Amino acid sequence: MAILVTGGAGFIGSNFVLEWFAKGSEPVVVLDKLTYAGNPDNLASLREDERLTFVRGDIGDRPLVASLLAKHQVRAVLNFAAESHVDRSIHGPGEFIQTNVVGTFELLEAVRAYWTALEAGPKEAFRFLHVSTDEVYGSLSDDAPAFTETHQYQPNSPYSASKAASDHLVRAYHHTYGLPVLTTNCSNNYGPYHFPEKLIPLILLNALAGKPLPIYGDGKNVRDWLFVTDHCSAIRRVLEAGRPGETYNVGGRNEMTNLEVVQTLCSILDELRPSQSGRSYWEQVHFVKDRPGHDRRYAIDASLIERELGWLPAETFQSGIRKTVEWYLSHPEWVQGVVSGAYREWVTKQYGS
Ligand code: NAD
Ligand code: DAU
Repeated sequence: MAILVTGGAGFIGSNFVLEWFAKGSEPVVVLDKLTYAGNPDNLASLREDERLTFVRGDIGDRPLVASLLAKHQVRAVLNFAAESHVDRSIHGPGEFIQTNVVGTFELLEAVRAYWTALEAGPKEAFRFLHVSTDEVYGSLSDDAPAFTETHQYQPNSPYSASKAASDHLVRAYHHTYGLPVLTTNCSNNYGPYHFPEKLIPLILLNALAGKPLPIYGDGKNVRDWLFVTDHCSAIRRVLEAGRPGETYNVGGRNEMTNLEVVQTLCSILDELRPSQSGRSYWEQVHFVKDRPGHDRRYAIDASLIERELGWLPAETFQSGIRKTVEWYLSHPEWVQGVVSGAYREWVTKQYGS
């Protein structure tokens, strides 16, 4: 028996696999296409570990998924694989539809065929856990209550629309075929192995390189930040005890404006790695053109997972963000491996020269 983790070489997927083996020893099969965001180095510490099988491939490759499910007698599929960056979805939505919608559909079809043929016991115990996002709910006004699981879907970017479509497919496979699915909708994650196209690692690396720190619009957009290992513990808990067909919102009750996040990063860096110029990193901040359709505020009401499954985050933003800065400062080789030609091309496309 094993679990199949799609997208296990990405930011959250790789943290999940590392945490899984830190807590237990059930084998894991990682299926990852290794797009620009997938990095086998994230799993380097497991390279000699026989409990991990790594397969480079696409969740949309139905025969490949079917063979992996059968060969490894998979008892659960955790679907992290996705195109995940909002700005990239604005430049080119096609890949987002292909992986997040069509890929999820193909994955569900392979899983449905496998699950249908299982014997009663394994069939009853089988789970398909779909990792989704709070962005499917759209944007909140400043004083609106946080998103609950029954908040209407109102996705605003091609990324969030493609994730919403995948959530609907997952829901339909439960309702129509009885597939035992679980969906998690989580808020913004941060932590080790975060690809530096996203706000927190981008600010960290730009600050250290003496480059401008780009803040979109007025910097007052609000995100609800959660340390990545807390997201991983929520997923483990939902897999273990979640009710099939249910959706669980996951978040740290930690709303911050982008300005507050960047200020925090600059002051930790000022303390741990002061700039040679003697100036605060904050002086590198540049306000730049806003993201088109930029959602103003996300906030998660995590009452259901807290009450029903007893899950709570272990990190505060203060403890998690310090760990994150320390991790980036102590892993220059990982950073060097990531900041490749392809990454530089993206930065030029998005921010200009
Ligand atoms: P990521 O972009 O860092 O990683 C995605 C991984 O999926 C990469 O390893 C990539 O190679 C792989 N992948 C992409 N297309 C694939 C395909 N067709 N077949 C197989 N593998 C493929 O993303 P992430 O930040 O780790 O997010 C993981 C999941 O969590 C996504 O579904 C995302 O929507 C969701 N999520 C992310 C956040 C966040 O803050 N990062 C918050 C909530 C939910
Ligand atoms: O809410 C969950 C989502 O969080 C996930 O589903 C996505 O996969 C993940 O990428 C993240 O989406 P965001 O768009 O919120 O994350 P990002 O890091 O791109 O941006 C965070 C905020 O910072 C957002 O308001 C935009 C802003 N920003 C971002 C970048 C890259 C800037 O001001 N400047 C930047 O250069």
